[in-house]
Amino acid sequence: MGISMKRRDFLKTAALASGAALVSESVSQANGLLAQTKGIVKPVVVSSGNGLKATAKAMEMIQQGSDALDAVIAGVNIVEEDPNDRSVGFGGLPNEEGVVELDSSVMHGPSGRGGAVACIRNIKNPSKVAKLVMERTDHVLLVGKGALKFAKAHGFKEEDLLTDEARQIWLRWKENLSKSDDWLPPHDINAKDIGEDLKPFVRHYGTINCDAVDANGNLSGVTTTSGLAFKIPGRVGDSPILGAGLYVDNDVGAAGSTGRGEANLLSCSSVMVVEYMRQGKSPTEACLTACKRIASQTKEARLLADNGRPTFQVIFYAVNKRGEYGSAAIWSGARFAVNTGEKESRLEESAYLHKRERR
Ligand code: GLY
Repeated sequence: MGISMKRRDFLKTAALASGAALVSESVSQANGLLAQTKGIVKPVVVSSGNGLKATAKAMEMIQQGSDALDAVIAGVNIVEEDPNDRSVGFGGLPNEEGVVELDSSVMHGPSGRGGAVACIRNIKNPSKVAKLVMERTDHVLLVGKGALKFAKAHGFKEEDLLTDEARQIWLRWKENLSKSDDWLPPHDINAKDIGEDLKPFVRHYGTINCDAVDANGNLSGVTTTSGLAFKIPGRVGDSPILGAGLYVDNDVGAAGSTGRGEANLLSCSSVMVVEYMRQGKSPTEACLTACKRIASQTKEARLLADNGRPTFQVIFYAVNKRGEYGSAAIWSGARFAVNTGEKESRLEESAYLHKRERR
């Protein structure tokens, strides 16, 4: 055996040893979290800023002894059914053809299981279907027509999810896309160059993520969305992808996201938030580290401002097994909902990577 071989073996062994050290360190940190939660944990529910009612409902159910997953799903069902939330369920903004397509995922810490649906049409509560995928199939993710058939097999009724308000917003977008197509917005008979005014249309991602820890230190989470407004039909965001839009590890914590799903899909940041918490970071620090990771992984000029900062927003929410919680965003101004046992939830400011300049 030559010297170089020995050296390679040595390096391999050293790498294995340091890997083992890292693993045992994170295992002992997770065990530390477990040990500290052997008593009673103060239950906590966190969600994106559109989840004031969702977090209050989930907390009420947890206090009555419900499983944390049932509680967060019941919470987000309120938002899925709210026609005034344009980013989730009924009333969500449609794809480029005017059809609402929904994504959702759930994860149940105590059983280590998860389920998801993507690109499902005509079903108001995709989070309930995601839970059934988890409980009543040997799969984790069903999409499109297959997801719809599965939902109908379980008694879900098809409904038109496009509200008149969402249709009108979509129609205005469609009519203002281009001067060279045949769709025209309302205009004066003397007007020229009609139909290219997208200034009022910010790309809208929305979504609700909701995560909870109950009094026994058990964790669960759910993410549900109508996704990017006016997307290409069939587009799937981060919300139904476990590890990206949601992740739960019952030994450590739960995390989820809202914002530009494409950025999060490329970095699988919810699982990273949980891993950062396993390494000892607080929920807020873990969320902020995920934001930094996304910013540093974004290389495409079309997504960066002149100063190299991302032009888009992604926000993370997290809770750990001790009942500590936090949120962080790439850009300032984000708020998240939290309930620590009160009847009413409150909004708190998310930490951020970059301060948005006032215009
Ligand atoms: N984060 C939601 C989406 O991109 O669809």
